Amino acid sequence: MPNTVVVGAQWGDEGKGKVIDMLSERADIIVRFQGGNNAGHTVVVGGQEFVMHLIPSGILHPGKLCIIGNGVVVDPKVLLEEIDSLKKRGVEIDGNLGLSDSAHLIFPYHRALDKLREAIVGPGKIGTTGRGIGPCYTDKAARVGIRVADLLEDEVFRRKLQMNLEEKNELFVKLYQAPPFEFESIYREYCDYRERIAKYVIQVPIVLNRAITQGKSILFEGAQGTWLDIDHGTYPYVTSSSATAGGACVGTGVGPTRIDQVIGVVKAYTTRVGEGPFPTEFPPPLMEQIRSKGKEFGATTGRPRRCGWFDAVLVRHSILLNGITEIAVTKLDVLDDSPRVKICTGYRLGEKFLEVPPAVIDRWSQIEPVYEEHPGWLMDTSQVSCFEDLPPAARRYLKRLEELLRVKISIVSVGSKREQAFHV
Ligand code: GDP
Ligand code: IMO
Ligand code: MG
Repeated sequence: MPNTVVVGAQWGDEGKGKVIDMLSERADIIVRFQGGNNAGHTVVVGGQEFVMHLIPSGILHPGKLCIIGNGVVVDPKVLLEEIDSLKKRGVEIDGNLGLSDSAHLIFPYHRALDKLREAIVGPGKIGTTGRGIGPCYTDKAARVGIRVADLLEDEVFRRKLQMNLEEKNELFVKLYQAPPFEFESIYREYCDYRERIAKYVIQVPIVLNRAITQGKSILFEGAQGTWLDIDHGTYPYVTSSSATAGGACVGTGVGPTRIDQVIGVVKAYTTRVGEGPFPTEFPPPLMEQIRSKGKEFGATTGRPRRCGWFDAVLVRHSILLNGITEIAVTKLDVLDDSPRVKICTGYRLGEKFLEVPPAVIDRWSQIEPVYEEHPGWLMDTSQVSCFEDLPPAARRYLKRLEELLRVKISIVSVGSKREQAFHV
């Protein structure tokens, strides 16, 4: 298989985990390149549901090397819990997991800051997952972050943790009127983590580039989605990392010339968790119907996901931003009971017709989506295993998406289970 980046082309939760699981069979190495345990990637195999937050979704395929890249922010507590939980369920984790020495670590003060900042801004909040993601990336950019390699060297770790706590405790006490963090207990807690994670630590750029030179194939697993990307998303209602395909290079140390293709994952409709604009959001009755049929509750926080029609304006721009070469459409089955299905083909903003979303966030609330309407198929697609067996109206819907997006749909998914998907 060519070296492939898989990214979400909407606001996350497109079904990237399922697509990665499907493609992992033909890859040698699967690497997560950004985000942290704000992600929740679901894979359903043999009647069991697995939700991965940090470990790549290829881990359920024995013999594949799964790597957490330098672009990921790692909460070691969550990583170790995930390893334990997978092992308990019979998944082998021994020599098949690698952790970048340059990945930044999440500390308890990051989680606390995430929650305090959200609380203090009130109505202007982002609706984060509260996992400390933003504050950890803030420290990375401010050049005060603590990386996996720092943790491995006791003196370095002590010094950096002390320095961080001095500054952060000022914030907690003086700005947020919150209790400060104590050095000794964090230090001890993280020394325990060090004992357990040390064996996974590798130099990811070396491992990956050597593998590519040897002709092995790499699958780059994106988290979140294009419209949550720190640069290209609906800023400030975004996450703090590069969720677009460019992030795969930055977050692993593999150059762009060594990547061959980019698969964009989309739902057959749209969802979003947290605050921020959403032009095609459903009105209440339809919202409940699709949310319940699609089980649209966050895989990480359990929050109800906001749902809406497929937005071709958003996805067309995602294709441009990521250089998407193929599309995977998931959750087609969720639209099975809809008598009519709509696709947003353009935005009206006052007198203007927009084909590309606006850059200024305040304009988004004034956007009026322009829809085309298609007859639904009103048939169960969940058992379909090839494109030709889909009901004609479902085929027409997918063909119309292809026309609007000008990119081939190469995978269609019609249920959460591994076998409920096919290549086109
Ligand atoms: P990710 O974050 O992009 O990996 O997506 P999530 O795992 O957060 O959310 C996708 C949800 O949809 C999960 O519960 C999947 O099990 C489920 N899912 C994936 N593909 C399909 C599909 O084709 N049909 C249905 N009904 N569910 C799907
Ligand atoms: P996966 O990988 C959907 C959203 C949060 C919030 C915003 C910022 O499963 O697709 P953060 O905690 O990152 O600072 O929150 O981003 N968000 C996600 N939404 N899927 C995700 O990941 C998300 N990760 C973060 O809801 O709006
Ligand atoms: Mg998810």
